Amino acid sequence: RDAPYLRVTPTMLRYYTGRKGKDAWMALGGRVYNITPYIAFHPGGEPELLRGAGRDGTTLFGEVHPWVNYEGMLAACLVGIYVTEEEGAA
Ligand code: HEM
Repeated sequence: RDAPYLRVTPTMLRYYTGRKGKDAWMALGGRVYNITPYIAFHPGGEPELLRGAGRDGTTLFGEVHPWVNYEGMLAACLVGIYVTEEEGAA
């Protein structure tokens, strides 16, 4: 049985940059989160957070603060799982 999550492809993710009124989504650890509600609370500020928006921010996140528990913090912001274009088309 397929997991009951939206399957988000890189193309879909790229739309959600957090810029020009669009929501901000970020892939982290194979899951995709809508980080829009968190922007105002990010201790590192909006521009830093949005560096990882619209794409897979896993590496960047790990370079900056690997100790931060994003899974717990963003549990309510889970959009779906991050898949390849091929998996998204399947
Ligand atoms: C702090 C960058 C994503 C949570 C910071 C700081 C930077 C930064 C530069 C340090 C601010 C300072 O000490 O003055 C980034 C970048 C991100 C990102 C480039 C893109 C991937 C996130 C996400 C979350 C998050 C997705 C949470 C879900 C935090 C927290 C701190 C922090 C809790 C404070 C950590 C501490 O002081 O120990 N961030 N951040 N960040 N960020 Fe991020």
